[in-house]
Amino acid sequence: MSASERGSFSSSFGVIVAMAGSAVGLGNMWRFPYLVGENGGAAFILIYLIFVLVFCLPVMLCEFVIGRRGGANAVKSFALLAPKSAWPLAGVLGILAAIFIMAFYPVIGGWGVNYLVKALNFTFSRAGEIDYGALFNSSVSSTVPPLIYMAIFLLASVAVVAFGVKNGIEKCSKVMMPVLFFLVLGIAIYAMCLPGAGDGIRYLFRPDFSAVTGKTVAAAMGQAFFSLSLGMGAVITYASYAGKNTSILRESIATVSADTVFAIIAGCAIMPAVFAFGYSPEQGPGLVFVTLPALFADMPGGGIIAILFFIAFLLAAITSAISLLEVMVAYFSERLKISRGWTLAILTIFLLGLCTLSSLANGPLADRKIFGMDLMTFFDYTSANFMMTLGALLIVLFVGWKIGKTVYVEELTNGGKIRVPRWLLDGTFFVIKYIAPPVIVAIVLVSILG
Ligand code: TRP
Repeated sequence: MSASERGSFSSSFGVIVAMAGSAVGLGNMWRFPYLVGENGGAAFILIYLIFVLVFCLPVMLCEFVIGRRGGANAVKSFALLAPKSAWPLAGVLGILAAIFIMAFYPVIGGWGVNYLVKALNFTFSRAGEIDYGALFNSSVSSTVPPLIYMAIFLLASVAVVAFGVKNGIEKCSKVMMPVLFFLVLGIAIYAMCLPGAGDGIRYLFRPDFSAVTGKTVAAAMGQAFFSLSLGMGAVITYASYAGKNTSILRESIATVSADTVFAIIAGCAIMPAVFAFGYSPEQGPGLVFVTLPALFADMPGGGIIAILFFIAFLLAAITSAISLLEVMVAYFSERLKISRGWTLAILTIFLLGLCTLSSLANGPLADRKIFGMDLMTFFDYTSANFMMTLGALLIVLFVGWKIGKTVYVEELTNGGKIRVPRWLLDGTFFVIKYIAPPVIVAIVLVSILG
């Protein structure tokens, strides 16, 4: 299929915006803060940042190289670069990971829709009268309303994908990312000025390594992959739509920076509020939904800010969800030779089913456990901590040992057209080939055995 038939991004800026749109999402605003809370604060953040810089950037470069060089979906790109080999299975693992993530992501997105509706009713402006913890629990544990909200979120994401790469994904991301950025920044500044915010700020920035375990490190690594949309072919797929002139290094650095900044300011918005209002940082997935409403209730004009926040929150989540859908649609439609429309329709029904189970896992099905986890936690935990991690491992092995340094350098420099410092090429490739593989394996083993 030619590039024009497959659709492509209109510009290099479009690629950055779409990649950042894919990266910035619930991972930053929902998952990152609650993992920070569960894993003791600053030490977790520091480990997370080291992973992002030392590992994730190289993994992203690898995915970019595979996708742009292969020019096809996440599975076929492997097949084109390594004909008659088993490598395409790495892509298949990615498709499976995308399904696992989309089996719960719309449920959280649905919580966001629910909270937008609450914000529109100015539920959070009645300060002091509401127990936000109880409100959250009753909101997510009932049976039917969360299903409706989940379906709204999923169908909205499907609608964007249906408009195609340029019109849907790119336009939506271009507008929403800056809006969200300034909103979250403003909220963070307000939160950090609250009386009692100091404990939260210390929690975020003063590391205590005494509580760090193998599980903490594994969680930080999984979160880094999750937040940057790595290890399952999302970047491969988007990179296949990127032009031959885009600078892989620049786009990757921009994406990684944007995502990291978002995560940190989301942390700065949430943690100070957790301490200022006397909540527990360890409460898990409800953290953002419990803390921020309390903050909005406290703010002058908080009613309006809450509305804007949840709109932006949802749009960020949607730009991420569409990248996950796109990975599946690109693969299944090209593989089974059915139209994108039909592929989407069938996928939607399938995902509605899976997400229904995940949603019910917060209420009626809470006692059904797999490996000691409820079903939603299972999808979340296995996708980030195992599938994406294994995916990332295969991706670095593929670039480091199969396609090799010559191709890597050729892609990063666009065949010599852009200048990239030698130490950067050598350094990142060294990490890809020799450092990342054993470290990833070691961390996964420690987290399983420890
Ligand atoms: N990174 C997104 C977030 O932080 C989630 C996401 C989108 C994702 N596409 C992905 C995660 C691909 C892994 C792989 O919300």
